[in-house]
This record gives sequence, C-alpha cells and structure tokens, in this order.
Amino acid sequence: MQSNNLARQPLAQRFKARAERTFGAWGIFFKGFLKHPKMVGSVVPSSDRTIAQMLAPVRWNDVKLFVEYGPGVGTFCRPVLDKMPRDATFIAIDTNDDFIRYLRKTITDSRFIAVHASAEDVEAIIAAHGFDHADYVLSGMPLSTLPDKVAENIAAATHRALRPGGAFLIYQFRSFAYDLIRPLFDHIDHGFAAWNVPPCHLYWGWKGRAPKDSDPRA
Ligand SMILES: C[S@@+](CC[C@H](N)C(=O)[O-])C[C@H]1O[C@@H](n2cnc3c(N)ncnc32)[C@H](O)[C@@H]1O
Repeated sequence: MQSNNLARQPLAQRFKARAERTFGAWGIFFKGFLKHPKMVGSVVPSSDRTIAQMLAPVRWNDVKLFVEYGPGVGTFCRPVLDKMPRDATFIAIDTNDDFIRYLRKTITDSRFIAVHASAEDVEAIIAAHGFDHADYVLSGMPLSTLPDKVAENIAAATHRALRPGGAFLIYQFRSFAYDLIRPLFDHIDHGFAAWNVPPCHLYWGWKGRAPKDSDPRA
C-alpha cells in the first residue's frame, strides 16, 4: 500500500525525499547553495571550532532573546540552544523556505522559532513575538553578495534591535562586514577561524561598552 503511494508521488518529490534521507543536513544545504548561490554563499556548513570561537564571548545567563540570521540547516542552532537558559527564546530568520521547513521539522525545542523572512525585518519580527530588544544577533549571511542596500539595511536594523550591551556576531569569508558595522557599533572585536571551509573572519560588534573580558583572542 505504502509503496503504491510512493509510486504515485511525482518523480521530483520522490528524488527530493530520497536526497534528504541520503544526505541529511549537508545535502539540503548543498541543494540550497545550488539554488541560490549568492544568498547562501558557501557550500559547507560552519565547523565546530568556528561555532565555539564565535559563541565564546556570549554571556549566556543574560540571554532572554537570541536571534540568528541565515541559520541554513541549523549548524549554530543546536549549540546555541544547548547553552541558552531554559526560559530564553531563539528566533532564527532565513529567506530560504527549504531551510525553514527543514529546521521546523528537525528542531522541536519549544524555545526555538523559525521565521521565513528577511533579516531586514528583524524589528517587526521580534516585536511580533513580544520582545523590545534582542540580547545577541548572530549572522552567517554572505553580506557582501546580498542585493543592493540589503546588507546596510540589515546592519542598521540590527543595531536598533539590540539592547545596550548586546552584540552583533558575524562570521564572513570577506572583511566587508567590518566596514559595514564600523559606523554603527561602539566597539568591534575581530577573530579569524582558520579551521573553516573556507577560513572566515569573525566580528563581534558591541552596542555600548563591550564586557571587559569580551576579546575572543584572550
Ligand atoms: C552561508 S549560509 C549560512 C549557513 C549556516 N549558518 C552555517 O553556519 O552553516 C547563508 C544563509 O543566509 C540566508 N540568507 C540570505 N539572505 C538572507 C536575508 N536577507 N535574511 C535572512 N537570511 C538570509 C541564506 O538562505 C542561507 O541560509
């Protein structure tokens, strides 16, 4: 009976389901890259070392709302959820519908909300979920290849969305992000993740004063 139903599915749907089963998260990510190379910007999800280095300065006890832009298949989502307080909220925003559907299917943590939208709308999105500000915003988006003005709009909206003392965490293959956030943020820490494919720059843009021990290289 089940095999009859399967046989009735269109070929493309059957191929998609088989690819998802066979290649899991990496397959979905690679497919996302083939579909929208400029929006996805990478063929491989971030490495564990990059994740640990990027998240090192976060003060987890202070987190009420953590926002991620461009979560892809959720490489950062699980480590963030593992560290977040039980009563905190995590909003992940991505323009790719396949990624959002995959995240909703695979992450069932009640603190996690996956939103299909552009990061430009972050203020409206967090307000719709009852928050005035975010404590941290993490971005893995290819900021330098986004359509005209989108990166500038996202940087400005993020600065407005963060609470004083909060930070914009960015990992990027190019140093473009530094010039983008420099006019807005009071203090920017910089790191480099050599163990990533490809290696990438890490930036922590602090709104207001950075905590004394924020420097990730220390
Ligand atoms: C390099 S991938 C991030 C991969 C993932 N975070 C990781 O660590 O493996 C970039 C992501 O940004 C998303 N993206 C591109 N433009 C966006 C926008 N304006 N708002 C939200 N997400 C966007 C893409 O759909 C893609 O999921």
